[in-house]
Amino acid sequence: MSFKLGIIGFGNIAKAIITPLLDNKLLKPEEIFCLVNSKKSFENVKANYKYKIRITHSDLSDKDLVWDCPIKILAIKPQQLENIKEKYSNHLEKDILISILAGVSIDRLTKIFPNHRCIRVVTNIPITISKGLTGISWSNDIDQKNKIFIKNIFENSSKVFEFSEEYLDIFLALTSSAPAIIALIIEALGDGGLSGGLSKKLSEELVIEMILGTVLMLKDSNISTMDLKNMVTSPGGTTISALRILEKKGLRSALIESIIQAMNKSKEFR
Ligand SMILES: NC(=O)c1ccc[n+]([C@@H]2O[C@H](COP(=O)([O-])OP(=O)(O)OC[C@H]3O[C@@H](n4cnc5c(N)ncnc54)[C@H](OP(=O)(O)O)[C@@H]3O)[C@@H](O)[C@H]2O)c1
Repeated sequence: MSFKLGIIGFGNIAKAIITPLLDNKLLKPEEIFCLVNSKKSFENVKANYKYKIRITHSDLSDKDLVWDCPIKILAIKPQQLENIKEKYSNHLEKDILISILAGVSIDRLTKIFPNHRCIRVVTNIPITISKGLTGISWSNDIDQKNKIFIKNIFENSSKVFEFSEEYLDIFLALTSSAPAIIALIIEALGDGGLSGGLSKKLSEELVIEMILGTVLMLKDSNISTMDLKNMVTSPGGTTISALRILEKKGLRSALIESIIQAMNKSKEFR
């Protein structure tokens, strides 16, 4: 066998990272060694996951096979961290642990996993459809060969940005938390359509298409957000009357504060 990638925690995000690697045949199912906590999740993955990866759970003795992988992704919730007991593998070089946990610092990871070189990664839910954004902070002891391999894992389904660790919390707020803010905005605009007499389903379809069109205009044409706003606001018109309400209700400030709040919450997990 050429390679072994360990995954500690095989939930939504781990699946979203691993599945495109298997779809694109960058890794083989037999090269993936996963550990979940419960027998229930273990059986669920065995029965329903489309690839026959190697999987075990916390009560089985073969979980050491996961700890024996030279590179592992840690994909549990930050609150579950204290239940993970590091196992030492006697490889020549220290193993690598890639943590995708919100907030938890490299410093804290290194204290919990002293036999590993730890890396912090932030990714976001659109990775599920290969449209993700991933931020990586390296610790000092990762060589170029491993950096390229680890970037490849995430580049398969996301755009990858390398940051010093101090910027990962704001990256998380803006990319990993904000999809929920966008979902809330879509839902609320849809309720606006509903209030005006359209069905909820049609309203949300219109909102999603409108957002897609607007975003593509901003992305592909050389226009700024201010240019676009000016293009659709005419004197005494409908759009400026809508924007006036949003300014009065403090939407702009609420959005800024929501990002700062998410960043600060991420810092609390350190
Ligand atoms: N949701 C997002 O948008 C997002 C985006 C980027 C990053 N993240 C980060 O990704 C991480 C995972 O999130 P998720 O949504 O994928 O969580 P999830 O679906 O709840 O998956 C957590 C996984 O960890 C396993 N686990 C829990 N305790 C364990 C233990 N002691 N030993 C082994 N495995 C254990 C669980 O197994 P059982 O099912 O058996 O309990 C499950 O497979 C979080 O740290 C989060 O901060 C989330």
